Amino acid sequence: MDAPPKTLTGLAEEKTVEASFIRDEDERPKVAYNQFSDDIPVISLAGMDDDGEKRAAVCRRIVQACEDWGIFQVVDHGIDAKLISDMTLLAREFFSLPPDEKLRFDMSGGKKGGFIVSSHLQGEAVQDWREIVTYFSYPIRNRDYSLWPDKPAAWRAVTEEYSEKLMGLGCKLLEVLSEAMGLEKEALTKACVDMDQKVVVNFYPKCPQPDLTLGLKRHTDPGTITLLLQDQVGGLQATRDNGNTWITVQPIQGAFVVNLGDHGHFLSNGRFKNADHQAVVNSNSSRLSIATFQNPAPEATVYPLKIRDGEKPVLEEPITFTEMYRRKMSKDLELSRMKKLAK
Ligand code: SIN
Ligand code: FE2
Repeated sequence: MDAPPKTLTGLAEEKTVEASFIRDEDERPKVAYNQFSDDIPVISLAGMDDDGEKRAAVCRRIVQACEDWGIFQVVDHGIDAKLISDMTLLAREFFSLPPDEKLRFDMSGGKKGGFIVSSHLQGEAVQDWREIVTYFSYPIRNRDYSLWPDKPAAWRAVTEEYSEKLMGLGCKLLEVLSEAMGLEKEALTKACVDMDQKVVVNFYPKCPQPDLTLGLKRHTDPGTITLLLQDQVGGLQATRDNGNTWITVQPIQGAFVVNLGDHGHFLSNGRFKNADHQAVVNSNSSRLSIATFQNPAPEATVYPLKIRDGEKPVLEEPITFTEMYRRKMSKDLELSRMKKLAK
């Protein structure tokens, strides 16, 4: 594979994309970044903290969305609009720093956090058209501030508050799913042992040939639940039929896109979907999204918490989250390697 470029700055001004970003035809975008669909449920969380029928109605909608799609949007979630806009502005500022400033946080070379171009999956056949900055925010003992950007100056304080608020929202949604499974409220959070949180800020520069490449290739998230904040540009796409048809999620100011990951899917014995999604890019404007992954601890056990009458377990045996992730990644890399060989 060609070595990834140091940053995408500059490449966005070229007339064509480098060969290393060009996807096979079957992987290329089928639907435009701004051809929005309102198929994905949008759920107001107003009334969620009450008891009684109001809460029950919100919970029913969440559960239905997880069964049908594994992806939905939430509004009226109680997270301050100012915090959301500060987080977005600071993240944009980081990506507009000169390459040398961003590369001070270069995470290639095995560091657990920092700045990187394209993808952290080494050995992939084709690169994603994105830059990311990532850091581990929970458990607090895992915070390595030397890997968190120190520019813009307010970054650390704002991201700490953002992380805390999103941890609260993520756990609240998991309570709803635990109850829907007939378990105690804390069941899914407890199954994570010591819930991890990782934040990935994605910046997708303008792309000269967006039809040939992807900002982020199709995948399911490995963890329990993900909360994604996206700007108004558009580019997040989901599929319910294994990639035959795609829909572009309509951006909603201040909303979070919630999606269930593989861990959430396995724990529910497949009842809740792990949504397949990808990000497409465009030639008109850059795009920013901030993904907050609520993940189990590495040693947490992955196995259904509830197997309903007549169901078979979706996993043959309990495995650790580390092992689940290793199997997923080696399968992905194997597929990518086979595709490369077949060329
Ligand atoms: C992600 O899947 O982590 C990000 C998707 C997006 O940028 O819309
Ligand atoms: Fe994702």
